[in-house]
Amino acid sequence: MNRPQNPFRATLGSTPPYLAGREDEIEDFENALDDGPGSHERISLITGLRGVGKTALLNAFESKARERSWWVISETATKGFTERIIEALYRMSDEGSETHKKKISGIGIPAVGSVQFENVVQYQPKVTLRSALTEFLERQEERDRALNQSPVGLLITLDELHYHRREEAIEFGTVIQHLVREDRNVAVAIAGIPQSIKPLLASDEGKNPVTFLRRANRIDLGLIDGQDVRRALKDPIEDAGFTWSVEGLDAAVEACGGYPFLIQLIGQQCFREREGEVITEGSVAKAAVVARRKLGQLVHESALADLSAVDRTFLAAMAVDDGPSSMSDIAQRMEANAQYVGNYRRRLIDAELITSAGYGFVDFELPYMRDYLRKHVVVDALSRRDDLKN
Ligand SMILES: Nc1ncnc2c1ncn2[C@@H]1O[C@H](COP(=O)(O)OP(=O)(O)O)[C@@H](O)[C@H]1O
Ligand SMILES: [Mg+2]
Repeated sequence: MNRPQNPFRATLGSTPPYLAGREDEIEDFENALDDGPGSHERISLITGLRGVGKTALLNAFESKARERSWWVISETATKGFTERIIEALYRMSDEGSETHKKKISGIGIPAVGSVQFENVVQYQPKVTLRSALTEFLERQEERDRALNQSPVGLLITLDELHYHRREEAIEFGTVIQHLVREDRNVAVAIAGIPQSIKPLLASDEGKNPVTFLRRANRIDLGLIDGQDVRRALKDPIEDAGFTWSVEGLDAAVEACGGYPFLIQLIGQQCFREREGEVITEGSVAKAAVVARRKLGQLVHESALADLSAVDRTFLAAMAVDDGPSSMSDIAQRMEANAQYVGNYRRRLIDAELITSAGYGFVDFELPYMRDYLRKHVVVDALSRRDDLKN
């Protein structure tokens, strides 16, 4: 008998079977591609916590561009990404018309492979990101005119941008700004976690701020509402020929807390725990335990690793409570004054790890962060300190 394949994709960076609750963002981006150079959403900056679906959205943008026969360069912003974009332009120039309906031919960049070494040293002009992109786009424009076809653009996606790459980000941004100013047929979508992006947006003492990022269309990805979560759990299961019990689906939606990564983790585990053809409340109860453990390993652990020791202490002080925490309790548990604790509150809100929950109260942003902290960080010591004082 054939073993049925699990319909969910519980891996960071994977495209989910059903991309829930991002229709507006995708539609805006599609409109920008169709509207032509100058539309604001053509330069988009996606921010949000780990597992909220930034990479999945970049993937969706890419497929919308490909549907329109656009060229797509998909990069991660690790060291040397500008060089790699140049290399991608070379490769695409070599691509034959068989693979791409609207091909461009013979990009003007010297063909390194066919030139003698001495000649390269003597004659090859320095290929900059700007010259490579300009050349590529100009060739495509010529081609579009010659074939009398609708203009073919170029989308560059850049995932996991980090302020550690500030220099390259500035170089990249400056080039893109020029291209936009020249009305070139280009679009750029960049993604990163808030902590990595925010320092790039802040203007800092006379240094060149990455203005193009500040002007970009901001897409701040958050949690997904219950209706969309329900659909994202239900459709893939039914498409695979299985069903949810009514209580099972309710329990699963609840367990996801609107968080995209959990939709995949919970969905995947539920499928494994199904009883015959049906996913029951019992399946969900078993699945949730495993899903939460994986979430801890894959998301909470890295989210906490990005923080300072005091940030973590602040979160641990919150985890003592079963619901929102009052700032005065936190100050007491940390044995610190209100101003000091207030600074850390600000930092953690900026990092989108906590949210304000009414006047003087804060709460966790990520589902199950509290449980994770209770299990893995020294919350005990802080709650004992609390008990002693009470
Ligand atoms: N809108 C969504 N609906 C359902 N699942 C999603 C959605 N967005 C992302 N996912 C899934 O959640 C997980 C994390 O998504 P990913 O794009 O890697 O997050 P990020 O890049 O923000 O860390 C992946 O398994 C992905 O398939
Ligand atoms: Mg990602």
